Amino acid sequence: MRYSALILGLMAAPLAVMASPVVEVMERQSANSLDAAMKAKGKYWGTATDQNRLTAGSNAKIIQANFGQVTPENSMKWDATEKSSNTFSLDGGNYLVEWAIANNKTIRGHTLCWHSQLPGWVSSLSSSAIEAALKNHIITLMTKWKGKIMHWDVVNEVLNEQGQLDTSKPFMSKMGEKFIKVAFETARATDPDAKLYINDYNLDQGSYAKTTGMANLVKKWLGQGIPIDGIGSQAHLQSGQGAGFAAALTTLANSGVSEVAVTELDIVGASSTDYVNVAKACVQQKKCVGITSWGVRDPDSWRASNNPLMFDAQYKPKAAYDAVYKYLTT
Ligand code: G3I
Repeated sequence: MRYSALILGLMAAPLAVMASPVVEVMERQSANSLDAAMKAKGKYWGTATDQNRLTAGSNAKIIQANFGQVTPENSMKWDATEKSSNTFSLDGGNYLVEWAIANNKTIRGHTLCWHSQLPGWVSSLSSSAIEAALKNHIITLMTKWKGKIMHWDVVNEVLNEQGQLDTSKPFMSKMGEKFIKVAFETARATDPDAKLYINDYNLDQGSYAKTTGMANLVKKWLGQGIPIDGIGSQAHLQSGQGAGFAAALTTLANSGVSEVAVTELDIVGASSTDYVNVAKACVQQKKCVGITSWGVRDPDSWRASNNPLMFDAQYKPKAAYDAVYKYLTT
């Protein structure tokens, strides 16, 4: 049964049925929006989604009620947008953008320069041709959605675990460190109002080599005048890692960027303690602009077997949702 049909059915039923958990859950969500609670603190709570999710189950309703920002989970990646050289397919990204605007959500573009989901034709280019392709890709996507996308993950996952640029990845191996400058300068020139981010995973502990390496590199790049506005910590956490997360955001913020963000949050086991610790870390970090969950409900997660999100298979908020809401509002 479609969820809306279920709700309608329950509305027509006697009062005893009206108090069913499903109806309570929907009423509670509209009243208790995570995003509204974050907005009261000057931040947002968003989620990753895309057309396939927005047109399935209760995702759209839950996002409308709970989240203030959306990130396209896959539709703006290189393999989805430019499978062949200079032939662009932007319909999937456009669906997300139009939905977000119609529903008053801000958007984080994801992602312009990433080694994964990168078509083979790009990685096999010569160094001058890959630079031209990178510029053309950034200019085309950012021009298409100019003024509509507030934050852009310009560069994604370019460091190794030692906190250095990974020389095995195509843009670095072909262009050297210069690709960072080219990517950010092209992005800034194309949409001067968008906030430009470097985004990565395993930036979850303050003194971990990748976290300190990221902060040091960004500090250096800012010193060279490269226009980086923010660092995104993806936050695909293991159970228990929420505890050290505040220190990680502090290390990243101290690089000199004007903002940081939690961009892809999911946590193995989704314990309330871990979720509250991450919420607290962002709330208490002045430069943290918001948190994005990497999906709505567990079965749709890229790590579904770990039940890492805040909604279960029936779209019911889990304990972590209640705990975060309580933390944000008391
Ligand atoms: O689009 C094709 C479709 O044409 C094909 O029929 C189908 C068959 O497998 O695959 C589809 O592509 C899949 C794509 O998601 C869209 O659904 C890929 O196989 C699948 O690997 C891809 O996974 C995504 C993954 O990034 C790789 O791009 C996940 O959904 C997405 O959650 C994950 O997100 C990444 C962030 O972008 C960056 N940080 C890490 C994070 C988790 O891996």
